Amino acid sequence: MHIEDTQARAWWKQAVVYQIYPRSFRDADGDGVGDLRGIAEKLDYLVELGIDIVWLCPVYASPNVDNGYDVADYRAIAPEFGTMADFDHLAREMDARGLKLVMDLVFNHSSDQHEWFRSARASKDSPYRDYYIWRDEPNDWRAVFGGGAWTRNEPTGDWYFHIFAPEQPDLNWENPALRRELYDIMRFWAEKGVAGFRLDVISFISKQPFDRPQTGGIFDFYANGPKVHDYLREMHAEVLEPLGLMTVGEAPGVSAADAPLYVAEERGELDMIFHFDHAGIDRTPEDFWRPAPWKLSDLKEILTRWDRALAGRGWNSLYLGNHDLPRLLSRFGDTGAHREAAAKLFATLLLTLRGTPYIYQGDEIGMINTPFESIAEYRDIVAMNGWADARAGGRDENEFLADHILVSRDHARTPMQWDASSHGGFTSGEPWIRANPDFVSTNVAAALADPESVFHFYRRMIALRKATPALVHGDYVPIDAGNPDVFAYVRTLGDVLLLVVLNVSGMAVDIGDLGRDGTTMIGNYDGRGTLRPFEARVLRMAGEAGEFASPACSMNEVDPAYMGLDRQGGA
Ligand code: GLC
Repeated sequence: MHIEDTQARAWWKQAVVYQIYPRSFRDADGDGVGDLRGIAEKLDYLVELGIDIVWLCPVYASPNVDNGYDVADYRAIAPEFGTMADFDHLAREMDARGLKLVMDLVFNHSSDQHEWFRSARASKDSPYRDYYIWRDEPNDWRAVFGGGAWTRNEPTGDWYFHIFAPEQPDLNWENPALRRELYDIMRFWAEKGVAGFRLDVISFISKQPFDRPQTGGIFDFYANGPKVHDYLREMHAEVLEPLGLMTVGEAPGVSAADAPLYVAEERGELDMIFHFDHAGIDRTPEDFWRPAPWKLSDLKEILTRWDRALAGRGWNSLYLGNHDLPRLLSRFGDTGAHREAAAKLFATLLLTLRGTPYIYQGDEIGMINTPFESIAEYRDIVAMNGWADARAGGRDENEFLADHILVSRDHARTPMQWDASSHGGFTSGEPWIRANPDFVSTNVAAALADPESVFHFYRRMIALRKATPALVHGDYVPIDAGNPDVFAYVRTLGDVLLLVVLNVSGMAVDIGDLGRDGTTMIGNYDGRGTLRPFEARVLRMAGEAGEFASPACSMNEVDPAYMGLDRQGGA
């Protein structure tokens, strides 16, 4: 059967998602913190870009130890973001523009200020005691934000478990009453018109036996606990399926080989997951918060491995930046002479792979890392705890900062740059975190006014993707996989064959005849021939994908790892 007939065409597969970090997007009331009214002001901007879905990072009541990823009340809006009326207003305004809303649910843990935990920690007889995980003695497992994973609870003399900060106690998914509460929270938001959920660290919800020694990388260790798939299947049957909700689970520690267990359609669990393989590409294997060099060949291999693992089995999610990572241009691209070209190249990569693309706020105007100068300028708990540990270990501040600036999550959290006015037009007050001084030249107003801007390139690239089913559903076949500078692949569906060629380097690269007979659909330079620094081209080719997938093709010394690629999507 023709692939076009067999591929399910769920709405979220054709969609492009935009991730908003509300604290840093737009501050309408001048208190220095972004808010829901601010987001509502900017919806027409998202429509112009061509977005279908907005994923909103947590906006629930929270003491903000981890900027809202520590929820004190899952049904209440944090006052700094506005009121429930503001939320309803935003949801209506989105609906009026055909935008769908995806909320972020933090269900692996709550805040220690949640009423469940306040009650549970006060007494062993609390009805909520078993919503959390208690032991008389801790083990030696480590927490993601530093220190041990157990904290002693003075009132009851025992210890509670937390994979993240002590203020983020883990919820006990073993308890069916807890799981019912969580499903009710999902129903509450679904009734408000929410179209789906991004599920925070969902791969961690089922815990390993506590007598297991902790070995290897921390994400791998906490992921894929024995009951995770039971819980997800139950959630699917109870809520996701009956209410038709879309899901994307954040899945640190889940390998490509295990991914189908989470997203294969017939398993009835999640629609998509975010893997961490390329998130960790510039980190040491032992410590996610330590920088390490990365190579394009690794990025190619990772993205190819994930396409291959999910082809015909489940749907991929695509991202190059988010609120937990430094800016993609600073990590993978260029922040100097080739900055614009690099920004457009990564837009092309994100929007021409198979899967649902997620654009992180500000990437569409080419935002880059901020030159934070001292520890006092950082806001993230990872920076605070990292520095406390480093200092205790006798490390010099400058040495710590030289490493931390390469991994800091705060780069993604500086104010969105709307115009050249103070703080980039984000707030009329003092922003909660400094703006990148670069807002003077890199901002939305300037981008909208320049037809050749990164923004307009994203807009055209999104439009092209939507008009081209091969870019959404087509098979993906890497070309010349061993090339250290060029990332090239074809996307093919029916008789449509598209060639994507990306020069991920600051040097010119000769690509011989590759793409010579193609028609350019989009590119970040004019013309053809030798690729210029960070040049990206998408070409429509005549012919068969097989010509490119065969080792006979001049540019196609296909790495043996990719041979035998199931080009029919495993169907
Ligand atoms: C996820 C979030 C991150 C948060 C962590 C703990 O990784 O994306 O921002 O700190 O979970 O909730």
